[in-house]
Amino acid sequence: MTMRQTPLPAGDTFLAWLASQAAQRDLAGLTRTPPVRFLAHPADQDHPELIDLAGNDYLGLSQDPRVTRAAADAALRWGAGAGASRLVTGNLALHTDLEQALAEFCGQPAGLVFSSGYLANLGVVTALVGRGDLVICDAHAHASLMDACRLSRARVVTVEHLDVEAVSDLLASRPERHALVITESLFSVLGDAAPITDLAEACECNAAVLLVDEAHGIGVAGPDGRGLVYGTGLADQPNVLVTATLSKALGSQGGVVLGPAPLREHLLNQARSFGYDTGLAPAAAAAALTALEVLRDQPELVSKLHGVGRRLAEALGKSPAPGAVLPIPMPGPQQALAVRDSCARQGLAVGCFRPPSVPDRISRIRITAKASLTPEQLLQAEQILHTALTEVCD
Ligand SMILES: Cc1ncc(COP(=O)(O)O)c(C=O)c1O
Repeated sequence: MTMRQTPLPAGDTFLAWLASQAAQRDLAGLTRTPPVRFLAHPADQDHPELIDLAGNDYLGLSQDPRVTRAAADAALRWGAGAGASRLVTGNLALHTDLEQALAEFCGQPAGLVFSSGYLANLGVVTALVGRGDLVICDAHAHASLMDACRLSRARVVTVEHLDVEAVSDLLASRPERHALVITESLFSVLGDAAPITDLAEACECNAAVLLVDEAHGIGVAGPDGRGLVYGTGLADQPNVLVTATLSKALGSQGGVVLGPAPLREHLLNQARSFGYDTGLAPAAAAAALTALEVLRDQPELVSKLHGVGRRLAEALGKSPAPGAVLPIPMPGPQQALAVRDSCARQGLAVGCFRPPSVPDRISRIRITAKASLTPEQLLQAEQILHTALTEVCD
């Protein structure tokens, strides 16, 4: 998270070095201080619960009583943790039930669940490409995808955001035999959609594999929230793979890779972030499985989310986003922080993204729509945002 960095000094000068790093972060307005989230309680007037336009619990499922009950029951039955890697004694029927349910929901043949979306991305990329291969990645792809590319030891080329032509040219002129193209479906900070049909075609024409991270697409995009890959009819293409997190619209924790059954077998054997990691906690697996059932039974949650998103976009004078994420560019990191803090003082949580989380170095306030917001909360949120933006930016 820090800016770079002189060589790590030894001995007593280490603490002085840490202090100088902290001072540099402060000066640049890049210090992170995670705010503590409180729940409304009449006895605790000092810590009111904020209206949440910052989190990723898009459908409010993390608080759904059916989901929390399933998590509690699973913890009581199986224990608080899986206890070991799934390759040892940490594998439960819950994991495989969840994999089948996720695959079926997204129209994919098979899936493998990891203990986070971050680890799913690390696992699939490093298990598919290595030294002597090519990886092409959108410049705005999530840090987990970027880290996966670096870790793979393949030649990594970052292309301009949404630039299909650059991808095609690189694929066509490559000396490498194996190539993997990586994108998000709906981008986590910019909120826009990737041209996945065109990317899939470029991959098909040039014997490459496309990996689409649907972290912000599952539960949000496509028919009944089945994701953008499903929505664009690409779910049955063997060279289009999907990763997703269970920690956003599904309100739980964990990650998954979806694709052909032999891919699952390959990852189970080759993905280091699967084999050398403790299995997904039983409570998280049960919560995600139940959240998926709720989503299947109540697809209207997805249209509710889009209704809230449209209303927020309109209030900010923007076009509606394809998903839940609406970014507001800021003049700099300090202003982004000032808007976030002003909103928090008035009772509203908004996201604040500053370098290095934004590859174009444009700091942004990020608003995320939530299906569970009431019309009163929305009105209040719009007023608070308007006041904060006027106060800081006018
Ligand atoms: C696009 C994208 N991919 C992957 C992840 C990582 O998922 P997890 O939080 O489950 O590790 C995130 C989380 O922020 C994300 O936005």
